[in-house]
Amino acid sequence: MADIQLRSISKRFGDTVVIPGLDLTIPDGKVTVLLGPSGCGKSTLLRMIAGLETPSGGEVLVGGRVVNEVPPSDRGCALVFQNYALYPHKTVRQNLAFPLRMAKVGAAEQQRRVEEIAQMLELTPLLERYPRQLSGGQRQRVAMGRAMIRRPEVFLFDEPLSNLDLELRVRLRLEIARLQRQLKSTAVYVTHDQTEAMTLADQIVVLRKGHIEQVGAPLDLYRRPANLFVAGFIGTPRMNFLPAQALPMIPGAPAGAGEVRTVGFRPEHACLGEAGPGQVGLTLLDCETQAVEHLGDRAFCYLRSSLGELVVLAPEGEARLSGTVRLAVDVAALHLFDAHDVAQR
Ligand SMILES: Nc1ncnc2c1ncn2[C@@H]1O[C@H](COP(=O)(O)OP(=O)(O)OP(=O)(O)O)[C@@H](O)[C@H]1O
Ligand SMILES: [Mg+2]
Repeated sequence: MADIQLRSISKRFGDTVVIPGLDLTIPDGKVTVLLGPSGCGKSTLLRMIAGLETPSGGEVLVGGRVVNEVPPSDRGCALVFQNYALYPHKTVRQNLAFPLRMAKVGAAEQQRRVEEIAQMLELTPLLERYPRQLSGGQRQRVAMGRAMIRRPEVFLFDEPLSNLDLELRVRLRLEIARLQRQLKSTAVYVTHDQTEAMTLADQIVVLRKGHIEQVGAPLDLYRRPANLFVAGFIGTPRMNFLPAQALPMIPGAPAGAGEVRTVGFRPEHACLGEAGPGQVGLTLLDCETQAVEHLGDRAFCYLRSSLGELVVLAPEGEARLSGTVRLAVDVAALHLFDAHDVAQR
């Protein structure tokens, strides 16, 4: 068992409080993604788990054991960073074998493990090359292999894909998901990319300014965001927000919505054209189409209304750039945010 627990963990740098104090359980054998905007404390949190940063307060437990005083090398955690540093004068094979050599693993076993991991990461044909003879993605896979080869109980990833081009990022993202299912190790994955989080995570922890905004499975966060911040951060294009003054225009909007300051709906929860008979919907007149993003079968229509800018997912055939359109919103799918949420944002 290698679950990770953070108990009242906090971090200050001088007078700057980066993490005021948070509690979090990272379950064994699952991928937990720490998601949040730049500077919210993701790397700091990860580095405290790894032992590269000393907490200002609180405890880190790995597998039920307090590891605050345990050096990084003895925590059973392997780290993969954005800026992977391979040994330039060692071949891929030697780079992969290095952690085993340090751990004084026998030569035959070293060779067996290197070949096993190379196969897993599709590096077998590249084993005799030097890092300078590899593409960025290949180098990143070697870095992952080097972290994995000691079979750590816990993987810590800090934006490992952010230096790569989009295509490679998507491919390696799926690769990591596949490897994780195979290895069943505990993984903590830091990213500010919500798509990456939605693809990889069993559990997403949304962070903002060192605070946890919400913890949950990807679809839970998408369907039931706890506040405006999470609602706006999860989902691309992001959720549409309207001021609460729009509420009286929504037939069937929930009663007792007095505290509501903002209403939100996802692009897929509205349609262009008149609301059909019997369909409860909000019809916003005079939406101007600003732009259309064609997906092939569907399209995102970027609209301007008197209440603000909106995005709607429509069948390709209905997406047109010209003129005024009407918008019908599925009232049942509305999210309501209160004054507290708005202040938080
Ligand atoms: N050694 C340090 N000294 C002072 N401040 C620091 C130090 N390390 C980090 N910080 C500050 O702590 C905050 C959180 O940094 P951190 O690196 O954890 O953010 P992050 O969420 O990983 O951001 P990014 O997505 O940009 O990598 C930032 O405001 C940063 O400036
Ligand atoms: Mg970071």
